[in-house]
Amino acid sequence: MGKMDSALSIPAFYSGKSIFITGATGFLGKCLIEKLLRSCPDIGEIFLLIRPKKGDHINERLRQMLTNPLFDTLRRKQPTCFDKLIPIEGDIGFKGLGLSAADRDTLIEKISVIFHIAAYVKFENTLKNAILKNVRSTRDICILGEQIKNLSVLVHISTAYTKLDEVVIDETVHPVEADWRKTIQIAEALDDDISEVFKSKYLGKLPNHYVFSKRLAEQIIVDYSRSLPCVICRPSLVVSSLNEPIKGWIDNFNGPISIHIGIGKGVLRILYADRMTRNNYVPIDIVTKMMIVAAWKHGTKMTETQDDFPFIYNCAATYSTTLTFEESRQMGLSLGKKNPFDNIMWRPSVTFTKSYFFYYLLTLLVHIMPALVIDGLLRLSGRKPRLLKVQRKIFVANQIVAYFMLNEWNIRNEKIKSLSDEILPDDQREFGYLRNLNDKNFNIYNDTYYENAIIGSKIYLLNESMDQLDAAKSHFNRMVWIDRIVKTLAGFYLIWIIYGILCNYVNCLSSMITSYDI
Ligand SMILES: NC(=O)c1ccc[n+]([C@@H]2O[C@H](COP(=O)([O-])OP(=O)(O)OC[C@H]3O[C@@H](n4cnc5c(N)ncnc54)[C@H](OP(=O)(O)O)[C@@H]3O)[C@@H](O)[C@H]2O)c1
Repeated sequence: MGKMDSALSIPAFYSGKSIFITGATGFLGKCLIEKLLRSCPDIGEIFLLIRPKKGDHINERLRQMLTNPLFDTLRRKQPTCFDKLIPIEGDIGFKGLGLSAADRDTLIEKISVIFHIAAYVKFENTLKNAILKNVRSTRDICILGEQIKNLSVLVHISTAYTKLDEVVIDETVHPVEADWRKTIQIAEALDDDISEVFKSKYLGKLPNHYVFSKRLAEQIIVDYSRSLPCVICRPSLVVSSLNEPIKGWIDNFNGPISIHIGIGKGVLRILYADRMTRNNYVPIDIVTKMMIVAAWKHGTKMTETQDDFPFIYNCAATYSTTLTFEESRQMGLSLGKKNPFDNIMWRPSVTFTKSYFFYYLLTLLVHIMPALVIDGLLRLSGRKPRLLKVQRKIFVANQIVAYFMLNEWNIRNEKIKSLSDEILPDDQREFGYLRNLNDKNFNIYNDTYYENAIIGSKIYLLNESMDQLDAAKSHFNRMVWIDRIVKTLAGFYLIWIIYGILCNYVNCLSSMITSYDI
């Protein structure tokens, strides 16, 4: 690591430096690019690892990505900044990240900061896929890092949920029993089906391949830290933006937002979850600032030795500021009334249960049965049935995330908090995040944040227009009345059934008494 001025401002640190980002087209990647271009205007070239997808070449994918409203401010104020973005074809599923020799040489010559963000993030993954994409790619990014001529820092994005076997998740390395070298060899040698045989041995008590592979990848970073200046950033659950560049921006259905949308649309009414469980959410713009600041701090410090690496930061909210499912439910339902989604299926409402038996029973009653009725009506009217398919997806998804909805963890964030103290006063406005992290009464988790998040999910995820809000509200009110009428009718029907049973019982009793009299 070259000697640098530790009092360098953040924009000055990035000035003229070329950066390499994997996962550039994803939720975190896009936001990082936007913030670097906006707040570090003198940054050098930004090389983006992109894979061709669905027939689209990488240049076309980059072009499409830049049409996202996230980049509107930049398009208006710094229209030429996008010239700094250079797509590089690659795939984390391939050895050596699938880079061509020429592109690799360019990176080796030019870049000094790496953000390794790309990962296979779906929980329903095969072991082989998770190891190759999340573990081997991390090894290969480290190999690249070793070849780079002027590397200041390599930031690896992990997840706060790598140490689920303990209630407190601290900002230290969580050793894994598996050896990453052997694990990669095994994954390379075996096919998907056979590698699944090793699943229970590898996963132990961990809930899925994703968590296992992210934890093992951290071990690689730890081992390479002897020769590389590495930092690990571990976000908790990343949610809609707090402020920058637009309030409530999100473009990813993964995580809690899909639950909120399911509830808001009236299709998700029962959740296998503990209502008192606390969720650790952190807005995307806060995570972006943390990644940029962590890279700056460890890319500029001349006092650090390689023994100090890797530095680990849990990019997570302070436990005491987090909300329970029940608190989120109340807030979401009341704000959802003000900003309902278009064409909701039913009046939004949700019940949490920790009992799998009740969850299963209620799923049949409030998800499956209405879906059968509505799909039947759709069929009769000549339209395509779809609700049962949606409910099947919801059921599978709830099983997959249940572990995280029935348990909670106290994610320590002391290091990311104290890192904030090192941000120079002039940089606090653009990069400071501490106040947002610590204070329940300031911005995060209050009505304003929630309302912006709901509006953001309407606009940026569901492509709904706020101009149609009145129509959405009228439809919402109709659904409230339909819900009331159906509930009242169901109540009468229940009373009628009970009355029938009681009458039968009384008749039976009186006939017994009568026969006794005779
Ligand atoms: N979002 C969260 O709540 C959260 C929380 C904790 C940690 N994280 C971590 O943050 C990182 C990014 O997550 P995200 O939420 O931004 O996910 P995301 O929106 O799904 O983005 C994933 C990124 O990885 C890329 N990628 C996936 N497979 C690839 C492949 N085979 N080759 C090249 N690129 C590939 C994707 O590219 P394509 O566009 O080509 O698919 C995309 O750019 C991950 O490392 C994740 O573990 C996320």
